[in-house]
Amino acid sequence: MNKDTLRREINDKVRLIDQSLDHYLSKSTAVPETLNQAMRYSIFAGGKRIRPVLLLASAEAVGGDPAMLLPAASAFEMVHTYSLIHDDLPAMDNDDFRRGLPTNHRVFGEAMAILAGDGLLTHAFCLITECADSGNISPETVIQVIKELSLAAGPFGMIGGQVVDINSENQVINKQVLDYIHSHKTGALFRACVRAGALLGGGSADQLGALTRYAENLGLAFQITDDVLDVEGDSGKLGKSVGSDERLMKATYPSVYGLEESKRLAGNAVGRAREALDIFGSEADLLRYIADYLLEREN
Ligand code: IPE
Ligand code: IPE
Ligand code: MG
Ligand code: MG
Ligand code: MG
Repeated sequence: MNKDTLRREINDKVRLIDQSLDHYLSKSTAVPETLNQAMRYSIFAGGKRIRPVLLLASAEAVGGDPAMLLPAASAFEMVHTYSLIHDDLPAMDNDDFRRGLPTNHRVFGEAMAILAGDGLLTHAFCLITECADSGNISPETVIQVIKELSLAAGPFGMIGGQVVDINSENQVINKQVLDYIHSHKTGALFRACVRAGALLGGGSADQLGALTRYAENLGLAFQITDDVLDVEGDSGKLGKSVGSDERLMKATYPSVYGLEESKRLAGNAVGRAREALDIFGSEADLLRYIADYLLEREN
């Protein structure tokens, strides 16, 4: 498949994901209005939607029907968006811009930003259960996906990574600690969304194993690139502040390996991600395209 077709496929998926998020976060008299506004503000500020697109593309790679999986895809975007809202708080990275707009706490205040994050995180699990409603996905698979997401987002995954990230500020850290931070704060959710797509799409054990390796390497490449862009990216294109890592003396790939070596390591990780897809034919072209895009991304 050529690049234009793949780009169009991604845009189509993003459109469906946005519609689904709009539906699940629609105004309701049962939800306080400010909370609804605060959740919608960050969700619709313009994220790339990489995680939900990966979920849908992974399901397709194993022959599943992505149309039924929009609630699960939306759930992963909600957990990711919650993590950004909290990551930007003054007590964490203290950032003022995100997705091209003032951060959630700058607009709604810290209490509402914390609660909007809590709301998105918790409601995500309700959305995943909806995948069982069509009758095409077994309750056992849905429970497995809930387990994947909770392990990836909680203390064994993203939260563990965020804690070591915060505790490593102003410290000289070794490469093992750096890898722990990257594989947990970012890699775990990448891994879980790809595995969720494979599980919900009915993939075999071999396919799940290959996609897991793809996702782990992709997640690493993604966070290395995020660190590189914080040094040499353009804040207008990124939609978030640059130089934040240096200001906080964060443990990053450029701080440990230097910029050029970091880029080389990101390239190697993308190479390994691509290799993991060798058991697939053209049905995994979208996943290959996403891997290549990571090395060129400017936002
Ligand atoms: C930013 O994620 C935070 C990281 C885990 C590196 P993204 O770069 O995917 O952010 P959005 O969703 O496009 O805003
Ligand atoms: C954030 O890492 C990872 C999570 C939010 C879990 P960063 O702190 O590097 O993300 P940005 O650069 O603020 O997007
Ligand atoms: Mg952070
Ligand atoms: Mg941050
Ligand atoms: Mg960063």
